[in-house]
Amino acid sequence: MCGIVGYVGKQKAAPLILEGLKRLEYRGYDSAGVCVAQGGQLEVVKKAGRVEILAKEVAVHRLAGTTGIGHTRWATHGGVTDANAHPHLSSDGKFALIHNGVIENYAQMKTFLARRGFTFQSETDTEVLCNLIAYHYGKEPAAPGQSRFLESVRKSLRHVEGTYGIAVLCLDAPGEIVAARLASPLILGVGDGEFILASDASALVSHTQNVVYLKDGELAHVTPRGFALSTLDDVDVSPVVDRITWSAADADRGKFPHFMLKEIFEQPAALENAMRGRFSADGSTANFGGLNITADELARVERFMFCACGTAWHACLVTEHLIERFARVPVEVDYASEFRYRNSPLDPHTLFFVISQSGETIDTLAALREAKRKGHRVLAINNAVGSSIAREADGGIYQHVGPEIGVASTKAFTSQLLLGAMIALYVARLRDLSFNDGVEYVNALKSAPDLVRQVLKQAPRIKAIAKRYAQSRDMLFLGRLALFPLALEGALKLKEISYIHAEGYPAAEMKHGPIALISEHCPTVFFAPKGELFNKLVSSMQEIKARKGPIIAIVTEGADLPKGLANEVITLPACHEAVLPIVASIPVQLLSYYIAVERGCDVDKPRNLAKSVTVE
Ligand code: M6R
Repeated sequence: MCGIVGYVGKQKAAPLILEGLKRLEYRGYDSAGVCVAQGGQLEVVKKAGRVEILAKEVAVHRLAGTTGIGHTRWATHGGVTDANAHPHLSSDGKFALIHNGVIENYAQMKTFLARRGFTFQSETDTEVLCNLIAYHYGKEPAAPGQSRFLESVRKSLRHVEGTYGIAVLCLDAPGEIVAARLASPLILGVGDGEFILASDASALVSHTQNVVYLKDGELAHVTPRGFALSTLDDVDVSPVVDRITWSAADADRGKFPHFMLKEIFEQPAALENAMRGRFSADGSTANFGGLNITADELARVERFMFCACGTAWHACLVTEHLIERFARVPVEVDYASEFRYRNSPLDPHTLFFVISQSGETIDTLAALREAKRKGHRVLAINNAVGSSIAREADGGIYQHVGPEIGVASTKAFTSQLLLGAMIALYVARLRDLSFNDGVEYVNALKSAPDLVRQVLKQAPRIKAIAKRYAQSRDMLFLGRLALFPLALEGALKLKEISYIHAEGYPAAEMKHGPIALISEHCPTVFFAPKGELFNKLVSSMQEIKARKGPIIAIVTEGADLPKGLANEVITLPACHEAVLPIVASIPVQLLSYYIAVERGCDVDKPRNLAKSVTVE
């Protein structure tokens, strides 16, 4: 969740680190700090609050060193204070450490170290690890040819239970950084005579597109002369240098006031990128290069299991609907955080999928590992190339939508819906779906970017609607079938960025409880597309109207609502069932966005949240 940056090179480290931290701020924004090795000191500047507050503080210190580390924090152990901000120094002042993750056995370590005279300035688990490194450093010299700095980090990490992505500075080795990871992402950018460490490529892509993705249990020893990788067991690792396919411009806000709005408007292009080259030559089905499963094997699958968290879990629910509807194969969906501990019986003919934008969500990664432990092949839908999930899955589909920076997921979600619809098509065509129905389905998916463009044109109207409801305290979102997950998604989007209490329900469930919330102060966003259930949806709306609840209806062309039933009507273009969830996402994204802006909320950095949830 936290953001990590480290620099070894010829330039001043602090400005570069601050630039990286600004780009990583979406990973955590409780506090920020930087440490630079200079003049025989480890100079630390850290502050509670945003990176811009840190930048002002850094400006009054003369940080000229060319090796340094920096951090943006999402608080786990200890409150949001200057003292708890990273980097942390060991009590002898020899080491500085930044950390992303949780050290579960830090309390025992702290007792052990306190008995040996180490002292602590913060409540964090990170400071304990920093002192443990100092303890090992002081205990015994390294063997000839070994780096004492590297070995003391290695020895310390062998005692850690939990997760970490760390970068460490040592006073005695001022041009060096030792970094390591276990279940928290860490990337090493390899530049021309310089190296940049980061928890996420967006912090380094403006300097280099050549990167090494560290694997779990690996350490990197970075010096001005080069870098070496090794494992916790001290085995050398040959680095694989990958190339990032997107550039710094893709991670810029451009003319938009927020990343979220930029990413909402990027969706037509994102959908085009996600489907490019993924349809068969005869135009009747989907093609996936990296699934690593043959058509015969897929045709024999008797059940699918999908796991994810948050918005990606909603994408699983829509995919469930489409696979069951078109391929007639049963599907189960579970929260990754539940599945990992539930010891759910998995039939051997079940194919397991995870969906994750970041590919680093710890619960989803743990669900993947649990399924693999049970002997299952696990496939992933994932956006971040080289992520832990991408590496550990047996096969999968990249979303190819570029970096998603806004904490509220938008373009990643609709591309997950698209890929889920394509999986449903692929499996359906291996079974009963006819060639003609396949062609119709493919053409419908190809039309999705244009349909989304049409809905985006309604942004000014949706903005006006948002203004009228922005001061609501509660909101309900209702939908049925494939749009029930959209009701969940609409409610999640609204609450995470505007802090309005919102709930999503299947429309017909309303009368089993949520109807008690209805009043003139609780608006309902109601998905009511034309179709066989339309009249039933209208009946549910009448029940809301009878209780004076305002209704924002999202309908499709040709769905004629009784006059005066809805207070607001947003009309979507008529479209294929597989495309409707994608198109229906747009108005709820825009509604949430404009409501949050109207309420003066920090849309891209909502309180208490972080983009990628790498702790339990
Ligand atoms: O990176 P992932 O897709 O695994 O993230 C899962 C959730 O944390 C994420 O979708 C979260 O719910 C978003 N903030 C929703 O907008």
